Amino acid sequence: MSAVKQGDALCFFINGKKVTENHADPETMLLPFLREKVKLTGTKYGCGGGGCGACTVMVSRYQPATKTIIHYSANACLLPLCQLHGAAVTTVEGIGSTKTRIHPVQERIAKAHGSQCGFCTPGMVMSTYALLRNKPQPTMDDITEALAGNLCRCTGYRPIVEGCRTFCQEANCCQANGAANCCLNGEKNGNEPEQEKPQLFDKLDLLPLDPTQELIFPPELILMADTSPQTLTFHGERVTWVSPVSLEELIQLKAKHPKAPLVMGNTNIGPDMKFKGILHPLIISPTRVKELFEVSQTPQGVWVGAGCSLSELHSVLEKLVPQFPEEKTEVFRALNRQLGNLGSVQIRNVASLGGNIVSAYPNSDLNPILAVGNCKVSVISSGGRREVPLNQDFFVGFGKVILQPEEIVVSVFIPFSRKGEFVQALRHAPRKEASFATVTAGMRVMFSESSRVVQDVSIYYGGMGPTTVSAAKTCQAIIRRSWDDETLGQAYDILLEELALPPSAPGGKVEFRRSLTLSLLFKFYLEVLHKLKAMNVITDEVPEKIQPLPREIQPGLQEFQPVSKDQGNHDAVGRPMMHRSAISQATGEAVYCDDLPKIEGELFLVVVTSSRAHAKITGLDVSEALQLPGVVDVITTKDIPGKKVRTFCDYNEELLEESEVSCIGQMICAVVADTKAHAKRGAAAVKISYEDLPDPIFTIEEAVEKSSYFEPRRLLQRGDVTEAFKTVDKVYEGEIRIGGQEHFYMETQSMLVVPVGEEMEFNVYISTQWPTLIQDAVAETLNISSNRVTCHVKRVGGAFGGKVTRTSVLASITSVAAWKTNRAVRCVLERGEDMVITGGRHPTLGKYKVGFMNDGKIVAADIQFFANSGNTVDESPLVAEKMVLHMDNAYNIPNLRGRGAACKTNLPSNTAFRGFGVPQGLLIVENMINDVAMVLGCPADKIREMNMYRGPSTTHYKFEFNPENLLRCWEECKRRADYSARRAAIEQFNQQNRWKKRGISIIPIKYGIAFSDGFLNQAAALVHIYKDGSVLVSHGGTELGQGVHTKMQQVASRELHIPPSKIYISETSTNTVPNTCPSAASFGTDANGMAVKDACQILYQRLEPIRKKNPKGTWESWAKEAFMEKISLSATGFYKGPDLYLDWDKMEGQPYAYYTYGVSCSEVELDCLTGDYRTLRTDIVVDIGKSVNPSVDVGQIEGAFTQGLGLYTLEELKFSPFGLLYTRGPSQYKIPAVCDMPLQLNIYLLPDSENPYAIYSSKGIGEPALFLGSSVFFAIKDAVAAARSDSGLKGPFSLNSPATPERACLASASPFTQKVPASKPGSFKPWALDI
Ligand SMILES: Cc1cc2nc3c(=O)[nH]c(=O)nc-3n(C[C@H](O)[C@H](O)[C@H](O)COP(=O)(O)OP(=O)(O)OC[C@H]3O[C@@H](n4cnc5c(N)ncnc54)[C@H](O)[C@@H]3O)c2cc1C
Ligand code: FES
Ligand code: FES
Repeated sequence: MSAVKQGDALCFFINGKKVTENHADPETMLLPFLREKVKLTGTKYGCGGGGCGACTVMVSRYQPATKTIIHYSANACLLPLCQLHGAAVTTVEGIGSTKTRIHPVQERIAKAHGSQCGFCTPGMVMSTYALLRNKPQPTMDDITEALAGNLCRCTGYRPIVEGCRTFCQEANCCQANGAANCCLNGEKNGNEPEQEKPQLFDKLDLLPLDPTQELIFPPELILMADTSPQTLTFHGERVTWVSPVSLEELIQLKAKHPKAPLVMGNTNIGPDMKFKGILHPLIISPTRVKELFEVSQTPQGVWVGAGCSLSELHSVLEKLVPQFPEEKTEVFRALNRQLGNLGSVQIRNVASLGGNIVSAYPNSDLNPILAVGNCKVSVISSGGRREVPLNQDFFVGFGKVILQPEEIVVSVFIPFSRKGEFVQALRHAPRKEASFATVTAGMRVMFSESSRVVQDVSIYYGGMGPTTVSAAKTCQAIIRRSWDDETLGQAYDILLEELALPPSAPGGKVEFRRSLTLSLLFKFYLEVLHKLKAMNVITDEVPEKIQPLPREIQPGLQEFQPVSKDQGNHDAVGRPMMHRSAISQATGEAVYCDDLPKIEGELFLVVVTSSRAHAKITGLDVSEALQLPGVVDVITTKDIPGKKVRTFCDYNEELLEESEVSCIGQMICAVVADTKAHAKRGAAAVKISYEDLPDPIFTIEEAVEKSSYFEPRRLLQRGDVTEAFKTVDKVYEGEIRIGGQEHFYMETQSMLVVPVGEEMEFNVYISTQWPTLIQDAVAETLNISSNRVTCHVKRVGGAFGGKVTRTSVLASITSVAAWKTNRAVRCVLERGEDMVITGGRHPTLGKYKVGFMNDGKIVAADIQFFANSGNTVDESPLVAEKMVLHMDNAYNIPNLRGRGAACKTNLPSNTAFRGFGVPQGLLIVENMINDVAMVLGCPADKIREMNMYRGPSTTHYKFEFNPENLLRCWEECKRRADYSARRAAIEQFNQQNRWKKRGISIIPIKYGIAFSDGFLNQAAALVHIYKDGSVLVSHGGTELGQGVHTKMQQVASRELHIPPSKIYISETSTNTVPNTCPSAASFGTDANGMAVKDACQILYQRLEPIRKKNPKGTWESWAKEAFMEKISLSATGFYKGPDLYLDWDKMEGQPYAYYTYGVSCSEVELDCLTGDYRTLRTDIVVDIGKSVNPSVDVGQIEGAFTQGLGLYTLEELKFSPFGLLYTRGPSQYKIPAVCDMPLQLNIYLLPDSENPYAIYSSKGIGEPALFLGSSVFFAIKDAVAAARSDSGLKGPFSLNSPATPERACLASASPFTQKVPASKPGSFKPWALDI
């Protein structure tokens, strides 16, 4: 820092406290400043690019011109520290804490069970808080809009939304409580029994919102803003920041430094600097130049300052619209419609209008409308001022506009529309909200008075090339012609030719994008027709109007059994108890791995990974990296003192590769430096040379062709499949491909390895599901014994299977760095690194042949499962194995054969993921059943029902079970969902609508619980009672958000006969409970619950003499007395679980302890023109025995269902033809957001179910419900089938998973998609691979 020039002092407030920073570095964002410098770790890192909302804070500013204070939410990861001069920042810690008073937002999200792993919770809290500061009684629309940019991977959003709903005025209405009839209609809810059903949380038990209690805006900042501002300059290590205060000064600066960017919202420049490594030595920040924020009205329209944020633009336009006749505000309203969908609230609050225009994104949402609306910009430079129209000449290339580098956009003119003019904004995006558009459009048409003859027309598209493009030729074909089918019919053909994308165009989706240009134009055509009709310009019949998809989220039902009246109050088992850390998570106090304070001398580790998929490493030059400031060392395989490989499934995997790489993202070496920034720069400076090896394998087909497998491959069969095919009425062969899935745990891989300093002892603080595996890995790698390594896991910010094996490899590497440097070393992956390095769910190809009778009875099936495993074995053969084990699902197919293979490819290694292959395997099976239904032309539920197991049954691995509860779930789900009536209503809807279709499906699951590797079914616990009566429980399970600690607290509460408040769980550590098994396989509560129970029973027994002696004594008095009597108050508990196995040679065994059953029914509405869909309603019935904690279990069901919905309908990993993962963050990879919630989600826990095989008759539920998300997939398929039927297409058709809008639209085979010529496979190199 000594070389850094002295700049101005940066002054702002955080949570009411003044911060003066004398060395503000322009490269520092608010997020690391908060976390590292101010030690406010409640604000989380989830992506670093504005795409996840985990870092949301509220920014408040005083506006001298209006003397008002504004509050807005913003992403701290993109907020440059230097931008904050004069601002007041509020973080989650600033609004409430357990030490003082928690804020009602924090309380309500927590009490509504909206916090599982809790990593997203501070962001959710702050988005809601910022909304409430502006609108204390919001509508549901306000809430869903405020939360649109906040991702949660655990909850499925329903409980978060329900918690926030309590702030709405309408929350007091009975509808908000799930009643069918509304009190506002004067109707009583006649069907409900008198007695109230138990609720997951009590709405009467909530703190009121009192806006007078909020932090006041610091008066000092008001004074500061009122005094004349000065130019500010900040110097960092590499970058200087200048913030001028006058337009004149800005012009001079830009003239002198034309290459320096103007940083406003930093939502374009920030990600460029962060992810592309672009360095701008000088940054000009004109946010204090008031001319850039002026808004002025003229008779022709409105000038809006280019510095105005998109939210400000929205509110300016919103205020203007009602002041003018509708005909004058067409452009305003079109812009506002688009603004509502652009990015998230956090992005719109900071992103500027000028920045959006100048950034010239090919798929900018605003530019097409500004262009059709005849808008213009006023630009200024030292050469003078000029006005430049925003037309096709303005956008000259990818991210380039016609302006000179020194020119500054001062304001943007948005004209009034004229009489007879219609303007529309259209867009389609991979996800409905918080997603860049695939194709976006602005369209304007003007008619001569009272005529349908087009006087003028303008059409612009985004997403169809490197720039916003004008469809000028198409417009030529429309102008001066009648607005009718004939004109438009010709226009489509011209448009198709005019906007022809090459088949390998960047971004892919070529056919879809081309068809979207047509269908968006068609939508505009219809809309205008309806307007002309309403104006009586045309009198003939017009086709149906396409209404937007419904979007209002209804309160759902969560039904569960109350505990028996006899159960004591202290006994928490069976009650909906809030996640034990929910409040701490909501206040930001909960400590995650990377929240641990920095240790003196601590280093940061960044791994260097391969940029080639298959190559020899010919050189590794780390000399430049070692010269860089702060870099301490570079770790290679030569530095590893112990085992250089990890062994999984009998295959060795190099920790750090030194000779030959087999995927992009494979780890080669690691740079350790004093800071993360220095380590990153060091990693970028490592030079690796390669010699490519021939024929990398990426796809499953390539692997099969080259017999590239990880052994063993598995086969299971019953009956005589070959013979049976000869006896059936029909045989059908099909296949389906299921894409992979990124875990997208909100907390990326994180660890801190600390050498204790003596006798080779290490403490490892880590985010993992399996502390013992990490302990073993570190010990083996360092060649020390396990007793020198203690692994600590306080909590994990989501894992889903992804924090087991991959984490152990990273921990081994980090431990080498700690050992070699003898300093603490932290490694926290960035989102992009995490996505590239750690793999995910196996993409799978399923091929099947099925034989059945004309009545639908399936007699034989032969299924093959091929899992794309990537470059190392990991657990892939076990994943493929599980597909084969589960392939019967709910069906008794007498002749059944399945083969599972793990394919070895040159992609990053895939690993365990919630469901462990079952979600892929079962989709293949259910798709097969669907095909049978389609061949026979009968509803799929009939085929499912007819083929289900009934009565005492035996699986294909000869395991006997009783499917009664599966059938009960099926019947209950049909009844609760009102399936038959709704199917009939859907048929009617589909007959009445050409461009929108509805679909419904009902899907069962039978899911085997526990590890089929029997030795893993064990657990231990350690329980201490202290003299004051407080109890500390330790057990082998890790808290991943699934609530295992909460459930263990409940177990201990029952066994010790004390309230849960006396019981604490601090962490999971290998020195309290050794030799743990992973928290996985939905077995955490089953195993650890029994161990905790055992330990507690031992202790309770020990206390018996004391209790007998003093029966009226308190728990505390007994504990004290026991100590005085020298009775040990500490006990271990152990659970020896079932010895499960499968004999693959004999094809028989008992691989599961029992089955969890569930059935889900989903209905969707599909826009066949864009493939966009909405899940209207989902009903789920699950048999989980007697729930230990209904709120936690409902949370697991909803969260898993939502993750399944993501897998089957939304989440797409895209790899380049060279094996590079394109989708490396939330901007490219879309997990479900609030907008993807079913509009109504009802969960019913099957009553009267017992399970003798698990604690308190409960059942494991972590994984099973994920597959139930496929009910949305099959509902989409059902809707697509209805659309195809209108195009005259019947019978089975291919729809791969995920059923994205692209796939659903193309499969719907509308006249528009059919117009687009398909490119011949093999004639071009596709942009992305089908792996
Ligand atoms: C997560 C995320 C989601 C997004 N989603 C969408 C979306 O759905 N649709 C969409 O259209 N956009 C989207 N965006 C893009 C966003 O709208 C733009 O990045 C933003 O509008 C740019 O404005 P800014 O103020 O942040 O620009 P900055 O990053 O501050 O600057 C961007 C560029 O503009 C130049 N510039 C800024 N102001 C001026 C000026 N007055 N005169 C001359 N040059 C200037 C700068 O020199 C710089 O080169 C998204 C961005 C993010 C990060
Ligand atoms: S970390 Fe800031 S939005 Fe994801
Ligand atoms: S609770 Fe939302 S990400 Fe875990």
